[in-house]
Amino acid sequence: MSCKVTIIGAGSVGSTIAYTLSGEDMASEIVLIDINKEKVEGEVMDIEQGTCFRDPVAIVAGEYEDAKDSDIVIITSGIARKPGQTRIELTQTNVNILKQITPEIVKAAPKALYIIVSNPVDVMTYVFTKISGIPENQIIGSGTVLDSARLRCGLSEHFDVAQRNIHAYVFGEHGDTSFIPWSAARIAGVNVDDFVAMMPHLGKDAKELDKDAMLTYVQKSGGKIIANKGATFYAVTRGVCRLCSILMSASESVTTVSSMMHGEYGIEDVCLSTLALVGPNGIQGKIPMALTEEEVGKLKASADALKAVIAQIEL
Ligand code: 2OP
Repeated sequence: MSCKVTIIGAGSVGSTIAYTLSGEDMASEIVLIDINKEKVEGEVMDIEQGTCFRDPVAIVAGEYEDAKDSDIVIITSGIARKPGQTRIELTQTNVNILKQITPEIVKAAPKALYIIVSNPVDVMTYVFTKISGIPENQIIGSGTVLDSARLRCGLSEHFDVAQRNIHAYVFGEHGDTSFIPWSAARIAGVNVDDFVAMMPHLGKDAKELDKDAMLTYVQKSGGKIIANKGATFYAVTRGVCRLCSILMSASESVTTVSSMMHGEYGIEDVCLSTLALVGPNGIQGKIPMALTEEEVGKLKASADALKAVIAQIEL
């Protein structure tokens, strides 16, 4: 496949994305850019020396000009969360870094589809949307792709059903104000509550689902992993690589990504995750999935929390 992907930031997330893309038939050319030249050269050498075991892929430690003609640019730069830190605590530092990167990268790759991964990802997606001049459909915040994956993982373990049969999403901020619209959660087309009632007929013990505990599991997973091993990068990489494959695919897919709201559910001028149709042209549109009144209230509360953070930043 002929696709050029540039990744900005050679930290754990950026490097793991480069490594993963180099092992899959997704990109023909990968450019990794970082302010720390020694680190990026080391990462590229380490990744490149394993590429003889697959179809040819070019991987370089580059400068912004090397991002020219990229199909996809993935922004991962910024300081990462330390144990006990929230994503929001990173805000002004990472906004300042994004402000330095943005003019350089958009000059080099004005036509690319941009995936924003740096945290706090909704605020970073908002800032990038405001300052880059890149059309909104080309800007995709990784948002709650990871949270929705964590939810599917948790539900799959709870019900002992394959993750592929679970269609359930996390909406709102990739962070502490996210929520699960349970009214739309389905296991093989069956509402989650009905599935619980059905379990004895399927020869399984009916296990009550503690929905609050499931949300806590989703929201606290990142913090727990950081406390245990210092950083999270595998699952988010899988999510970002999945987004890359959606962007390179001929057809569109439905996923929870962060993008600018324009009155959907009564929310505007903030980026957060709801269901969107995403494909080779980026964000094709948002899917107006029905939410209960209570769920709309939770989405609005998440939007308000993000707006309060945005109001504090120096752009
Ligand atoms: C995560 O949730 C840190 O946002 C990252 O894993």
